[in-house]
Formats: sequence, structure tokens, C-alpha cells
Amino acid sequence: MAAKVGVGLLGLGTVGGGVASILQNPSERHPLVGELELIRVAVRDLNRPRPVALDESLLTTDPSAVIQDPAVDVVVEVIGGLEPARSLILQAIAAGKSVVTANKAVIARHGQEIAEAAAAAGVYVLIEAAVGGGIPIIEPLKQSLGGNRINRVSGIINGTTNYILTRMAEEGAAYDAVLKDAQELGYAEADPAADVDGLDAADKIAILATLAFGGSVDRAAVPTDGISGLQGVDVDYANQLGYGVKLLAVAERMAESGDPLPLSLRVQPTLVPKDHPLAGVNGVNNAILVEGDPIGRVMFYGPGAGAGPTASAVVADILNIAGIRQASEGPGNVDPLLAASSWRPCALVDSGDIRQRHYVRFKTKDAPGVIGNVGGCFGQRNVSIQSIVQFNASDAGAEIVVITHEVSQRQMNEALDAIQALPEVSGLAAHLGCL
Ligand code: HSE
Repeated sequence: MAAKVGVGLLGLGTVGGGVASILQNPSERHPLVGELELIRVAVRDLNRPRPVALDESLLTTDPSAVIQDPAVDVVVEVIGGLEPARSLILQAIAAGKSVVTANKAVIARHGQEIAEAAAAAGVYVLIEAAVGGGIPIIEPLKQSLGGNRINRVSGIINGTTNYILTRMAEEGAAYDAVLKDAQELGYAEADPAADVDGLDAADKIAILATLAFGGSVDRAAVPTDGISGLQGVDVDYANQLGYGVKLLAVAERMAESGDPLPLSLRVQPTLVPKDHPLAGVNGVNNAILVEGDPIGRVMFYGPGAGAGPTASAVVADILNIAGIRQASEGPGNVDPLLAASSWRPCALVDSGDIRQRHYVRFKTKDAPGVIGNVGGCFGQRNVSIQSIVQFNASDAGAEIVVITHEVSQRQMNEALDAIQALPEVSGLAAHLGCL
């Protein structure tokens, strides 16, 4: 059995609490999670209420004590802000520790300095949680899409503003009230101006561009406009013209090649046609469209902020480091994540136990009581009907379409057998699943 991987946490706010909570509850997750051990946690104030119950002896107000603790193998920086976060990341690298950070502000501005320091020290700095919350986008850009020539990366990469825009559009909710909700839900930055003025999205698109196009970009030169100046009347007019308004971040190549490669980056409230895949991305969700050759267009979608999703991305990075460490333990060892090896038996349930909603269409006679009899067969087998409609009634017969609530396949089959035995039903013409 490999030695545990010691984790030192810098920060126990929204994201830090989410990370601690996963590490403390490894059950039913990948077994490598059980190999991670939370060693020390740096907090600003020992007396503040904690988002998660922790052994008080783990806590310290000295981040250096966490970094320098010999039992800490991986330092997780979830303090946020530029300083002291940047210095602490560099300190961890200098101490020979790999780092996991959710800090887009630091990586967008000091990513090059940090990457060079990490390369020189032979450690990793992983940043999956810095962009897109729980959406895996950093590792796909670094690895899974590595065979592509990327032409464009665009998307909705700030959860707070998307949440605000969605609630304003759907409910006509007031800006200030919705922003307050976003703060309470743990989506917004400590200074929400970073969200509403587009700065957070600009940090993130600068990071994505660096990974997609292979060279660091000047974060300060990204034209950035947020939603604070957006007027309701323009959202209304856009809506009438067939568009939604989203805070979009875009990075695209402007030439086949070049040294330097010319890129165009921008963050701006943008009209999105209602049938565009980004138009349906609502609430705190983010989505990133990557356009590459030869893959074409691929979209990554999911929750872009909040404790759980961001912690999911942080833990993924810690696991990557743990996996690499296991693989380097000697000949015959492999990275368990890369190997995707099974870690327990699984068994499929009997098909009769599969539960879902169903759509069925029957051919019937157009006779009195047919719908009642069909409904009765469902009711007697405890199959609850969501809707039942008769179509195309004529002398030749009719069609009855039923959508059920969620039921087991066994209940459904019993009901269908009974219905097909009814004299006024001539057959089951279609049977589909229904989400
Ligand atoms: N404030 C950020 C957002 C948090 O709303 O997207 C995730 O980076």
C-alpha cells in the first residue's frame, strides 16, 4: 500500500470547506481519495465559524507552517486574491511541493513566473478549478485535445453574472437582490465588482488562451466590459429580435501561424441567437466552446461556481498529483487514474428494475370508455400517468398517447400486457423512454 499523500490547505472559505468535506468523506469515491490525508489548514482567524467540522489541531494562522510541514506533499491554495497567494504558491514550489490552486487572478497575471518556477523545481502547479468551476476544461485543453490545432475558445465563464442575467431575464428580478443571492450561494468573488465588471471572466479567458494557443497572453490588454452598464431595455430589444444576452469571453487566432501568434481576446455582453448552444446555458452554469482542427466544435458545460463544483475540480488536481506519485514509486507502478483500473465489482440490476418515464402509443378503436380502460390498466399496476391524449379519432380507429411518471420496467410491462389484452386496443405502436 502506497503512503498517504499529505494535503495542506491554505484557506478554509467556500472552496476550502468544500475540499475538506470531500477529503473527510472518501466513501464511494475513487479509492485514491482515501489515500489523501488533510495534514494542516491555514485560516485567517482561529475563532471564525467553519464551513465544515474539522479537528481544531489541524488549524493554524501561519500559512508557512502548512507549506513547510514535512508531511504535506501537496499545497492547495484557495485563499484567492493576488497577495499573499502568489508568494505562498512560490514558497510552496521552492519547498519542492506541488501546488493546486483555484486562483485565476494569480494565474492570469503571474502564470508564466509560476510555471517557470515549478519547472525549475520539478513540481506541478495544477489549475483545473481556476476556470469553469466544476467543468473539466483545463485538463482537456492540456491533454485530451492535444492533437488539435485550436482556432477559437469562447463561452460563458462567470457563474455570478450568468446567474444574475438569467434571473433578471426569467423573473424580472432586481439586479441588487440577485447579486446578494449569488453572494449567499458562494458564487460571487469577495469583491463582486470582479464578476460584474468582467474582470474574473477576463482572467479566465487569458488562462484558456494561454493553454489553447501555447503562449502566455497579456492579461492587462484584454478588452473587458461587464454587465454593470447593461440596460434592461437592450435585453428586451435583443429578446424581441430573437437573441439572449450573455457575458461572453472569446479568444481566437487571427492568423494561421505567427511569431508571435496574433490572437484576439475580449469579454463583453453579447447577443447570442436563441438557437445557439450557449443560449440555453442558464443560472450559475458555464459553458466553453472549443473549436479545433480536426475535432470541430466541442462544448463543455456545467456548474461554474460554488463550493461543491469548485472543490470537485480542486480534488481532481490533487488526485492527479497523487496518481503521478504512485506511478513514480518504482517499476511496475502505473498512475491509477490514467490506467482507469476497476476498483470494485459492479452488477447490472434486472431490467425489470430499471426506472424511468415512458412514452407509449396505442392503436385503438374509437369507442366509448377506451381511455378509461387504458387508464385503469395503468392505475391497477400503480403506474402513474402524466398525460393521456387521443389523436386522429375516426371510424378507422384512434391513437392514444400516454406519458407516465417514473415507474419500473416491470410495472410498465405488466400494464402494457393488460392494455394489449383489451378488446378495443389493436396494438402497441410505439414505446419510447421519456426524460
Ligand atoms: N466568482 C466566480 C464566478 C467564481 O462567479 O464564476 C468561480 O470562479
